[in-house]
Amino acid sequence: MAQLSSSSDVPDMGRRQFMNFLTFGTISGVALGALYPAVKYFIPPSSGAAGGGVTAKDALGNDVIASEFIATHNPGDRELVQGLKGDPTYIVLTEDNAIGEYGVNAVCTHLGCVVPWNAAANKFICPCHGSQYDATGKVTRGPAPESLALVSANTSEDGKVILTPWTEKDFRTENA
Ligand code: FES
Repeated sequence: MAQLSSSSDVPDMGRRQFMNFLTFGTISGVALGALYPAVKYFIPPSSGAAGGGVTAKDALGNDVIASEFIATHNPGDRELVQGLKGDPTYIVLTEDNAIGEYGVNAVCTHLGCVVPWNAAANKFICPCHGSQYDATGKVTRGPAPESLALVSANTSEDGKVILTPWTEKDFRTENA
């Protein structure tokens, strides 16, 4: 019995130290969390590090410059660039000639073919098994099970197109 009570003291010590460790960890976590927005503010988006964003690259691997993109495209165009994780991604030019605030990941949600934009039909049509998506990438015909993924598109202070993960609700579906 004596052995039992003395051995139960050991875990108590361990628990106290563990609780100290937890408290320290929590305080550090809160401090880091508070610092994060400030740190993020000072990291230029073009570094590609902040918020998991990347600078969109054209077919030659050059950064996509928003003003050049707008000058060389027509309203309503969708143009493939290299986006997040290297995924082929469409930048959208709006009808009033601005870079759209969303881009569309071109990887078909069926089996991963790159889905071409069909300007004449105003939709994306997958050549592999015929899935179709409307101009926003919303699936309109299977076998694709889901719409094309969205990304956020923004212009950095030095005029480059920056793509970051989409964190808003999916505006193409009511219940997403
Ligand atoms: Fe696009 Fe099958 S991969 S429809």
